[in-house]
Amino acid sequence: MWKQVTGIVLTSCALFANDVVYSVKEKPVYLDAISGKVVGKLLPTNAIEILSQEGDRIKFKITGYQNKNTPNVIYFTDKARIFSLAFAKNIIPVTKIVESKDQWNIVTTEAYTTQGDYEKSVEPMMEKAAKLYSDNCSMCHTLNAIDHFTANQWPSTFRSMLDRTPIQKDDVWLVTQYLQKNASDMKK
Ligand code: HEC
Repeated sequence: MWKQVTGIVLTSCALFANDVVYSVKEKPVYLDAISGKVVGKLLPTNAIEILSQEGDRIKFKITGYQNKNTPNVIYFTDKARIFSLAFAKNIIPVTKIVESKDQWNIVTTEAYTTQGDYEKSVEPMMEKAAKLYSDNCSMCHTLNAIDHFTANQWPSTFRSMLDRTPIQKDDVWLVTQYLQKNASDMKK
């Protein structure tokens, strides 16, 4: 029997320039305000700054870590493979270096995404993710402690069990990010 997943209802907020917001689900990323070509994805629970709104698109800025070997990805940290903004392999985003390190630079980059599904605080969506994890991953065996795995181990561990749960496609990245950001090697 599936346990009922009682929804924590997240309501989208109105957006204004300079607001810092977090998307609750994976969002398509574009290089401009009109092109239909999706060039990447913005992952949930990562802070973005709203720069402007153009039609049904928003232009945003994100700060993160760029690895010299994988310049198409902006990471949440320099310690593990936690994606904030992932461009297609052939797209190298234009970045401004905030701080230069050996293998990693802290950078900012700008891109476009769609309106909708943003929150001004990250805690409610992390609570939703925590509940999805604990409700769905304790159905057949004891819930694994989140810090039982590292941030790099969680995505494949989670995905290998995902088919056994009713977790919705829209929530997969949300739960993945929650697990990675609370993994054993991410403790402060
Ligand atoms: C429908 C039952 C079921 C659900 C739901 C379930 N698991 Fe499992 N899990 C199993 C079984 C059975 C095993 C034993 C190994 C196997 O069958 O692959 C297992 C093993 C595991 C292991 C050990 C893996 C290994 O290779 O030893 C981990 C970690 C795990 N589950 C995590 C999760 C997570 C995370 C979730 C939620 C996304 C989850 N499980 C949901 C049935 C389930």
